Amino acid sequence: MYIKHLHLINFKNILQADLDFLSGINCFVGDNGAGKTNVLDALYYLSFCKSYFNPVDSQNINHEESFFVIQGKYQRLDEDELVYCGLKKGQKKYFKRNGKEYQKLAEHIGLLPLVMISPSDEQLINEGSELRRKYMDGVISQYDKEYLDVLIKYNRALQQRNATLKSIRESRAQDFGMLELWDEQLCHLAQKIYDKRVAFIEELVPVFQECYAYVSDNREEIALEYQSSLKEESLKTLLLSNRTKDLILGYTTKGVHKDDLNLLLKDFPIKKVASQGQKKTFLIALKLSQYEFLKRHNGIKPILLLDDIFDKLDANRSSKILQLVAEDKFNQIFITDTKKDQLKKILETTGKDFRIFNVNGGEINIEN
Ligand SMILES: Nc1ncnc2c1ncn2[C@@H]1O[C@H](COP(=O)(O)OP(=O)(O)OP(=O)(O)O)[C@@H](O)[C@H]1O
Ligand SMILES: [Mg+2]
Repeated sequence: MYIKHLHLINFKNILQADLDFLSGINCFVGDNGAGKTNVLDALYYLSFCKSYFNPVDSQNINHEESFFVIQGKYQRLDEDELVYCGLKKGQKKYFKRNGKEYQKLAEHIGLLPLVMISPSDEQLINEGSELRRKYMDGVISQYDKEYLDVLIKYNRALQQRNATLKSIRESRAQDFGMLELWDEQLCHLAQKIYDKRVAFIEELVPVFQECYAYVSDNREEIALEYQSSLKEESLKTLLLSNRTKDLILGYTTKGVHKDDLNLLLKDFPIKKVASQGQKKTFLIALKLSQYEFLKRHNGIKPILLLDDIFDKLDANRSSKILQLVAEDKFNQIFITDTKKDQLKKILETTGKDFRIFNVNGGEINIEN
């Protein structure tokens, strides 16, 4: 699958653009703040109905304007797909596939698989566990339609259980029957989530390891582990043995809403011990293994967005990554970089065709 044409109006600092892409490698080069990442974000929008960076839709409209349009013409399974996203200030987002508006945006997710690798991914290492759970959930729900539904039901049951805990604590009601009811619901839903997360990580890890070893020339020992209290005991037992504590605190201390991913370099947390380049390599390996995973499950090669990927990486790692993504197992790629000459040099070593767009103050022009 690939995008042939992108049409933008008033998207962030890009007032107007009509861009024809190669089915292979496309690059955006220009100075800081030129609008390179904004183009990648527009592509992300068309796949996920939202920005990768700014969750407030209206803030993605150009500050001087009152609406934006993002439209992409794709080739998918030998058919043309026209995807349109429009937003007017103060109105709801309008999302269409081949002229027909979606009833639910969730129906669109997964149609145009895409993987973004961006400097902001470092949050995944540096921030708390919630982001890592969101990451897992985001990938799994791209190929498993049931997953998101189960997750929503779990969170609802969790809220109800917490409310029941609080009401018992405040002696408004000794509603232990109700508590047991929510326990039962939670256990049933948690098991499904747990099983799917285990399966996801089990399949992801070998590809991740292989990818990291390749890029780093086998120099470092790294690990990615799924951490969940359900590994040792069933949630039923955990909820019972922690009931007194939960009642005092007024919330549920055990469950899949506390899961995490352990990211390790030689048995130590990456966050504490890894260099900047090692962290970056870790994240790139993680995202590339996610790519491979989605490809396997969707049967379609996702679009790959590489935002500022070579920054902080040495020449060896940079060229290895480019060699890797230029292989046939990847399809359409978008790269942003501030250093055009350096990028061209690395691209030429791949022997593949590439197209360069110069970005300057929100204006985008193809290089002749
Ligand atoms: N809603 C908006 N309206 C107008 N301009 C915006 C809006 N949102 C973001 N911008 C502008 O877009 C520019 C950032 O563009 P972008 O992040 O694409 O830069 P970049 O070319 O990727 O730069 P870098 O090399 O630093 O990563 C900034 O100047 C920012 O102020
Ligand atoms: Mg950028």
